[in-house]
Formats: sequence, C-alpha cells, structure tokens
Amino acid sequence: MNDPVVEIRGLVKRYGDVTALAGVDLDVHRGEIFGLLGPNGAGKTTLISVVAGLARATSGSARVLGHDVVRDYRFTRRAVGLVPQEINFDPFFSVEEALRFQAGYFGVRLSEERLAEILDALDLAAKRATNARALSGGMKRRLLIGKALVHDPQVLFLDEPTAGVDVELRQQLWRHVRHLRDRGTTVVLTTHYLEEAEELADRIAVIDRGRLLLLEDKATLLARNAGQRLQDIYVALLQREREQREER
Ligand SMILES: Nc1ncnc2c1ncn2[C@@H]1O[C@H](COP(=O)(O)OP(=O)(O)O)[C@@H](O)[C@H]1O
Ligand SMILES: [Mg+2]
Repeated sequence: MNDPVVEIRGLVKRYGDVTALAGVDLDVHRGEIFGLLGPNGAGKTTLISVVAGLARATSGSARVLGHDVVRDYRFTRRAVGLVPQEINFDPFFSVEEALRFQAGYFGVRLSEERLAEILDALDLAAKRATNARALSGGMKRRLLIGKALVHDPQVLFLDEPTAGVDVELRQQLWRHVRHLRDRGTTVVLTTHYLEEAEELADRIAVIDRGRLLLLEDKATLLARNAGQRLQDIYVALLQREREQREER
C-alpha cells in the first residue's frame, strides 16, 4: 500500500516575489485518497499544477509513477487526470462532444462502452446530447470530472471539486470518488470542507504558505486527538503556526 505514485521532493515554486511552494516533500501512495488541505493561497493549486505539468517548478522535483514530470512530460501527463478549480470548457459542445474532444486531445479513441461507463458513473447519461452551457452548475462539475477521466488516468487530482456545490451533489461526488478509489484510481483531493476530508481521505496533508505542516494517516491523527473533529485539529494547527511565526 505504500507504493508511491507521486513523489515530490524539495519542491519550490516562485512567482516573482511570491513563494507559492517553499520546499515541499511528500509522497502519494497507490490507491489512496490523499486530502490536501490549507488556507487560500497556501500553494495547493500550484502543487497540483506542477505535478500535472501545467507549471514549471523553480527547483526540486516531482515524479509520477517514477517518471519526472518535466523530462517525461508525455508519460506523466497521460498518467494524471486533473479536475481544475475553475470551470472551463467550451459551452458550445454537447456533453458527448466535450468528452470525445478531450479523449482526442490525449490521442485516445473513446469506445462507446467507455463513454457509456463515464456517463453512467457521473449520472450524465440523460444529458449526453445536451450543450454544456445548458447544464446546471453541478452537472458542469461532473462533466469536468468526466473529462478528467477519459484517458483512464492512474492518479486523479480534484482541486476543490465541491466548492459552492449543494449537499446532495456533494454526497454524490463523494460516492464517485470512493468508487474511483475502489477501482484502483489514486485520488488527490483539495477542499475547504474539513468534513469532506474527514469523510473521504485516507491521509491528510496540511500546507500553509508553501510549507507542509502536517502529513498523517487520518485515523492515526484523529486517534491522537481523541474527541476532536478534523476541523478543530486543523484550526489549532494553523493558529499554532501563526503564533510561532509572530514570535520569530
Ligand atoms: N500564476 C501566478 N502568478 C503569480 N502568483 C501566483 C500564480 N498562481 C498562484 N500564485 C500565488 O501563489 C500562491 C499560492 O497560490 P495557490 O497555489 O493558488 O494557492 P491555493 O490553491 O492553496 O489557494 C498565492 O500567493 C498566489 O497568489
Ligand atoms: Mg487553489
């Protein structure tokens, strides 16, 4: 179970004067749901962007299935699925076209069987011919997940997939995420909803200002802080960090 699928070493990313990642080391294990938590601006999206090959690290490295994300970009890009934080797709495509187009982008032929499987898994079968712009917000989110799955990635990054999503859809997404994990997909999930991480994640990482503050098995973390919810542990951790920073 400790087979690393993603290996991040000494990862630094600067945007001019802003240090988005200040030297992060972490592994994501095969088959786990990895909860990546942290306040706004902590560096979560930047970390995901580097692994997905959308941003270039200033220094340090990231490997996916043993392949460097810069040197073996074509390999790692195929191994990774990314559900971006922002909803972005061509509203003039139908759901089916959006999925087929995305598959084409990866050079994959989407079989009818695979298409039906994705549509079913995301409850979009009835919307197959519907234009993306006519979908509800929740359906758009699901289409984004579908797009990230067309090339059958081994690691799926979900960047705040449930931001602004209603309770019912959130639970539906949780079921999909568990289903994917049960099928063997490794999932990295960022979220601001601590109860979501508590519900879904096998391990929890907290980053703040580009630094890793915590990385622990969720069950161990909760047992160590008996009686506390993940949210309490998280808030106390960030507060302690702030106090220590002020003392320095
Ligand atoms: N393209 C960019 N150009 C300049 N600064 C950026 C860019 N992307 C992110 N940043 C900065 O890097 C820091 C981390 O951002 P981000 O990774 O988006 O955090 P998170 O996803 O945890 O909210 C923030 O200070 C943000 O303003
Ligand atoms: Mg972000």
